[in-house]
Amino acid sequence: MRLTSPKMNLMYKACMKASRSLIRDFGEIEKLQVSSKGPADFVTAADKRTEKIIIEELLKAHPDYGILSEEIGEINEKNKNNRWIIDPIDGTLNFLNGIPHFAISIAYEEKKEIISGLIFDPIKDEIFFAEKGSGAFFNNSRIRVSKKNKLKDSLIVTGGPKFASSRKEKIFQQYIRVSNSTNAAIRKFGSAALAMSYVAAGRFDGYWEWELNYWDIAAGVIILKEAGGYVDYLEPKKVVNVVATNSKIHEELKTVLIID
Ligand code: 2AM
Ligand code: CA
Repeated sequence: MRLTSPKMNLMYKACMKASRSLIRDFGEIEKLQVSSKGPADFVTAADKRTEKIIIEELLKAHPDYGILSEEIGEINEKNKNNRWIIDPIDGTLNFLNGIPHFAISIAYEEKKEIISGLIFDPIKDEIFFAEKGSGAFFNNSRIRVSKKNKLKDSLIVTGGPKFASSRKEKIFQQYIRVSNSTNAAIRKFGSAALAMSYVAAGRFDGYWEWELNYWDIAAGVIILKEAGGYVDYLEPKKVVNVVATNSKIHEELKTVLIID
């Protein structure tokens, strides 16, 4: 695998180390599925275990770097120049249900700009990574976004609405509008990080989702941009409402998504 820098190398090592225990944990899920309590506590423990391994590896190399991670929150929050953004399991609900579609996501930021990102699907053994100015990669190959230039021919992926969303109606309305604009289809796979990666790899032509967290998409942003895609946010205030495409259908998808 062509890793472009020492930083990328470090992210890769931390991710691979953590994924070994994550894969083992996923193997246990099936057995727990039948218990009446279900595997929820076990998954929380797996999530924390994965996070701990990643953080330990990253801090060993750079004890002073900031970290923002889903379970633990912030570490070294005063460091605004160098920061890791981690989602130990993106697609937790899939993981919980024994569905093999989830990923570890790690991004690196300098002065609030995302510089590198790595997203690893440990079950399919698929890795997506990119560094600013060096292109985006899937396993050993360079990737590019798709060339579709009409929304009507495009395969779109989405997620949500979240259980507690106050904007369910609007999100369902968006779903209907996009459905009516494409002859292809809309998919809902349950991992924001993998949705972004799949747009970068040309598997999907576009993605939108409302009310995400920054760690769900941070690594995906640089991977998609380096693959030639566009990312922007419909309402950048408290929540992350992302629209991410192959660039060619960007304006068309945005127009359909913006509802007054
Ligand atoms: P997670 O699996 O790490 O929770 C699925 O639609 C996507 O949304 C996943 O990437 C999931 O990340 C994220 N997600 C699920 N529930 C969420 C919530 N309440 N707030 C923000 N993001 C959420
Ligand atoms: Ca997530």
